[in-house]
Amino acid sequence: MIRIAPETEADGWEIEYLLDTAFAPGRSALSSYRLREGVDPVTPLCLTARDDDTMASLAGCIRFWPVIAGERKVLLLGPVATHPTRQGEGIGARLILESLDRATAQGWTACILIGDEPYYQRFGFAKSETLRFPPPTNPNRVLAKALQPGGLDGIEGDVTSMRA
Ligand SMILES: CC(C)(COP(=O)(O)OP(=O)(O)OC[C@H]1O[C@@H](n2cnc3c(N)ncnc32)[C@H](O)[C@@H]1OP(=O)(O)O)[C@@H](O)C(=O)NCCC(=O)NCCS
Repeated sequence: MIRIAPETEADGWEIEYLLDTAFAPGRSALSSYRLREGVDPVTPLCLTARDDDTMASLAGCIRFWPVIAGERKVLLLGPVATHPTRQGEGIGARLILESLDRATAQGWTACILIGDEPYYQRFGFAKSETLRFPPPTNPNRVLAKALQPGGLDGIEGDVTSMRA
């Protein structure tokens, strides 16, 4: 059984270890990390997936940051990762669906990310023709999803950090 729960401070080192394991080395060089630097994550949406047993090892995690898309504050999804030995069990899907449900309930209007459309389209994400992430970003990997009716209306232009 997998248990989904909000991330706590005690999860920190295990999450970093999981992200290092799931992503290629140098993940922090990705342009999405520049958007997160110096900005607090949206903690109520950062979730962990743990086995519901005595070892309770971390099987997956998801985090979100606020960013500016054009002139609006939206959610940046990611990183999301499932431990390599646990991929394909639906853990990534549960983390994404649960966190997006919470985001909608909390009134967030839109969510964007950099990722593979073939994976994220099942959650309602589609390629954005109007948003530009900082380089180097492949524009085909810029995806967006409305979380409220009309949530993507007027979302266009540069994606920038909340720091700026
Ligand atoms: C992407 C990731 C989070 C998915 O987690 P998961 O728990 O394996 O996902 P699920 O079990 O919900 O879904 C598995 C399905 O997604 C598919 N899938 C996984 N990654 C995919 C990708 N990049 N593109 C297309 N399909 C993908 C699998 O083939 C599988 O398909 P199936 O259901 O037809 O068998 C996980 O593979 C991972 O941690 N990858 C490394 C880190 C990463 O790339 N994170 C995303 C950054 S954009």
